[in-house]
Amino acid sequence: MCGIVGYVGAQSALDVVMGGLRRLEYRGYDSAGVALVADGALFTEKRAGKLSNLSKVLSEDTAPPSTLGIGHTRWATHGAATDRNAHPHLGARGRVALVHNGIIENFAQLRGQLEAAGHELRSETDTEVVSHLLEAELDAGADLTTAMQRVCKQLDGAFTLVAVASDDPERVVAARRNSPLVIGLGADETFLASDVAAFIEHTRDAVELGQDQVVTITRSEFDITDFAGNPAEGKRFHVDWDIAAAEKAGYDYFMLKEIAEQPEAIANTLLGRSATGGRLQLDEMRLSDDELRAVDKIIIIACGTAFHAGLVAKYAIEHWTRIPCEVELASEFRYRDPVVDRDTMVIAISQSGETMDTLMALRHARDQRAKVLAISNTNGSTIPRESDAVLYTHAGIEIAVASTKAFLTQIVACHLIALYLAQVRGTMFGDEIGAIVDELEQMPAAVTKVLATIEPVRALARELRDAPAVLFLGRHVGYPVALEGALKLKELAYMQAEGFAAGELKHGPIALVEQGVPVFVVVPPQGRGQLHEKMVSNIQEVRARGARTIVLAEEGDDAVTPYADELVRLPSVPTLLQPLVATVPLQVFACEMATAKGHDIDQPRNLAKSVTVE
Ligand code: F6R
Repeated sequence: MCGIVGYVGAQSALDVVMGGLRRLEYRGYDSAGVALVADGALFTEKRAGKLSNLSKVLSEDTAPPSTLGIGHTRWATHGAATDRNAHPHLGARGRVALVHNGIIENFAQLRGQLEAAGHELRSETDTEVVSHLLEAELDAGADLTTAMQRVCKQLDGAFTLVAVASDDPERVVAARRNSPLVIGLGADETFLASDVAAFIEHTRDAVELGQDQVVTITRSEFDITDFAGNPAEGKRFHVDWDIAAAEKAGYDYFMLKEIAEQPEAIANTLLGRSATGGRLQLDEMRLSDDELRAVDKIIIIACGTAFHAGLVAKYAIEHWTRIPCEVELASEFRYRDPVVDRDTMVIAISQSGETMDTLMALRHARDQRAKVLAISNTNGSTIPRESDAVLYTHAGIEIAVASTKAFLTQIVACHLIALYLAQVRGTMFGDEIGAIVDELEQMPAAVTKVLATIEPVRALARELRDAPAVLFLGRHVGYPVALEGALKLKELAYMQAEGFAAGELKHGPIALVEQGVPVFVVVPPQGRGQLHEKMVSNIQEVRARGARTIVLAEEGDDAVTPYADELVRLPSVPTLLQPLVATVPLQVFACEMATAKGHDIDQPRNLAKSVTVE
């Protein structure tokens, strides 16, 4: 949610900042802007719309040569997506330029105070008050670092702030509370960004800023303090992926590339999980076996696609560990006074590790003394850092806004955690756990097989381009798959799409079925006799009412053939693993449908990849 870049070094700041913004555009694309310091003055340019709008004016403009600058790509919160509301925002006399990610919750009160003191604010944003406050501190004699420390103490909410001053050509100053910020350490150059992707082509050495810290960067140094000005430290790390991972590698869209990467992503998530003696291991575990044995309830918190992964996980966790498991939308969790105590384990699933709804739910759980285990794809992000244990999904960077490989690897991670708990608590024998891990290890090959036979699904999407709505049905773990198929279609193709538990259909939603409505049906493996039979009946029920049935069923399942207008074959896999193969055709369908409609696949309207506001 908003991408931020800062740079000081020997290269053209404009080139570095624009290159960084290009890689961060997935975080928001409502507007973009840059500020450069040159010859004792600030040069700024900003435009509503995608980064390409800004690039266009910049190519017409003559930006002065500069080696120090900042940039921003916006996901609008306060104020519409206009040129005026785009960042950077300037102080009263244009001495300070500032970019911001997050929300300043007390901005109305601060704005009132500034206006009463004669300040004229030009935008409707919450950010502009901060640039005015910073500049007022500079005017009172503070340097930019001290000004930032003082101003941060006045702010409530979540923010990453990055600022430059016209008369300070040596440094960029930034601050962080509840929103991400990393420092990139190059040779004679230093970077700031919301995400390492922004500077990965220049350096892989990074430092992650902690909560409530201010950092000052120069070409050769960085200096971190807390908001009171006391020295503080960040956490150094080396980025283990390179520029190639952040490129499209010949695909038209990141989403296509990420769908294709799913077999490898699953394999990487499984890699290195077996310790000596065949015992499973997590990445970071700060909980003892005794604490895990004491767990009497699991609550999974997550949003969107990650929530759907949690719904799948519930089936595996309860089946393998016999621990009751609830799955809750993170945005609802803390507002319902949930029953949580020291024997509750909360599993927070978040690809980005920065989703504010999930972070706030996690903090609420920890306040109630619950143990928190994070599943995340982003090393060192806030959610894993604030958790008692972490399992990383090693899916590699996911850039397309619509999540694909993260979803499959989140399911794998959840299954590993369920098996880990079963191992510690002795609810399964070691050989049973080993057999499931072996089956999980077959999943990359199974997904590869689905991808190799996916062309008819693409053709179907093109054919159904004008369908007014699409329904998705599933039972058991097929139900979250149906929800995920519908979510993908909504967010990418902007279509009415609904996922239902197939048994629930007759309680109302079947009224939506009319002649020709496409209905996807995720059929459970035949091994689940009762479930399978019920699903075959459900297919007949919708077909009898005119639906066009698109049936996803395992190889050799002939019982469904007479009722399938279209049949999508899935490799035969155990029921609890079926979402790993059944979701893939639905991802491809949504992607192709959006392509057929001419939508932007990687950057669907109104969305952003990392949702750092509540
Ligand atoms: C949908 C999608 C979102 C995210 C959700 C949570 O394709 O990507 O629904 O799954 O915003 O994001 P993370 O996992 O980063 O917490």
